Amino acid sequence: MELQTMINDFQTIYTDSMVGDARLFFSPGRINLIGEHTDYNGGHVFPCAITLGTYGAVKKRNDRIVRVYSKNFPDAGIVEFSLGELEYKKEHGWANFPKGMIAYIEEAGWKLPVGIDLYVYGNIPNGAGLSSSASLEMLIGVTVNELFGFNIGRIELVKLGKKVENEFIGVNSGIMDQFAIGMGQAGSAILLDCNTLKYEYAPINLEDYQIMVMNTNKRRELADSKYNERRSECEAALAKLQSKLSISSLGELSEDEFEQHKQLIGDKVLEKRAKHAVCENQRTLKAFKALQEGRLEDFGKLMNESHQSLKNDYEVTGKELDALVEAAWQQEGTLGARMTGAGFGGCAIAIVEKDKAASFIKEVGKKYMKRIGYAADFYAASVGDGTKEIILEVQG
Ligand code: GLA
Repeated sequence: MELQTMINDFQTIYTDSMVGDARLFFSPGRINLIGEHTDYNGGHVFPCAITLGTYGAVKKRNDRIVRVYSKNFPDAGIVEFSLGELEYKKEHGWANFPKGMIAYIEEAGWKLPVGIDLYVYGNIPNGAGLSSSASLEMLIGVTVNELFGFNIGRIELVKLGKKVENEFIGVNSGIMDQFAIGMGQAGSAILLDCNTLKYEYAPINLEDYQIMVMNTNKRRELADSKYNERRSECEAALAKLQSKLSISSLGELSEDEFEQHKQLIGDKVLEKRAKHAVCENQRTLKAFKALQEGRLEDFGKLMNESHQSLKNDYEVTGKELDALVEAAWQQEGTLGARMTGAGFGGCAIAIVEKDKAASFIKEVGKKYMKRIGYAADFYAASVGDGTKEIILEVQG
């Protein structure tokens, strides 16, 4: 959507808003290159922000009312609440995300002097596992921060976003999504140690290759999924290992240490879950190094191993993601492919030779359709910036 159209739409929706132009903000979605289900296990992740995302147009008000409207949920209409009543309300639907973010910013000590009018539009495919909810949380965080000059540090906002997801919305996710979205930089992925929050940017230099995002179009329902079950399985495995080892997360173990002590776990399923968490963390570090050294083939192989491990040991892929990834592996000119995000549907990614992108889409699309019975979608992903204000250039 044109940015000017957004400003006009804002004015059409909020006919009684204050004078002056709305300010515009953008918050990306994310993909994770590698390091899946490692964030809540104290391991490393390697995500990047993408240029699909959520846009916001906003104006301050002169009272304590907050009004929010999303072009993606027109049936919800304008949702209105006051700064004095920031509790979760089921009937407020999507508006609970902005509400939760404002609630936690206030709780952390930054009181909004007045309310806002906010218009939101997002082009992240719904339910695709590209983190539209974290995108929205960070959009609100950065918007409120800039609008009122609060000077809240970016990582503080990231933590507040995660808190909204965990406590306000009630989804027990890790820190990866908000971090990738809040801290993203165009052209780079972020290696993040989720234990310490130490991070490092790595330029994504793919030469003749590009990142292809493949959407299974099977909705990934995180809250009802096996996500929480996997988290508790990992906690149970960790508790067993802690009977002999002084570690506080699975991310602290090397593969050798795990092999030496895995019999402590005493349960084959829990052992597989923990093995994935340990090995995936090590793979992520290897992949980071491979990318930095321009060893793209090695990087691709690590992606493939990651998918295998998520399929066989962590068991979070499902037939749709496997169909896409396995079809991608068969394509000439594909360096690697894997699911991205929580799994159980949603998206996969592949590193594909640019010249072969069109045939990739055609062939993988055909195989997916044949195996699953409905179509997949494909997007060439560009790696973009984290959440930011958009300054429109004045013409002429
Ligand atoms: C979801 C969660 C993240 C992370 C991934 C799996 O995207 O929101 O915190 O756990 O799944 O890597």
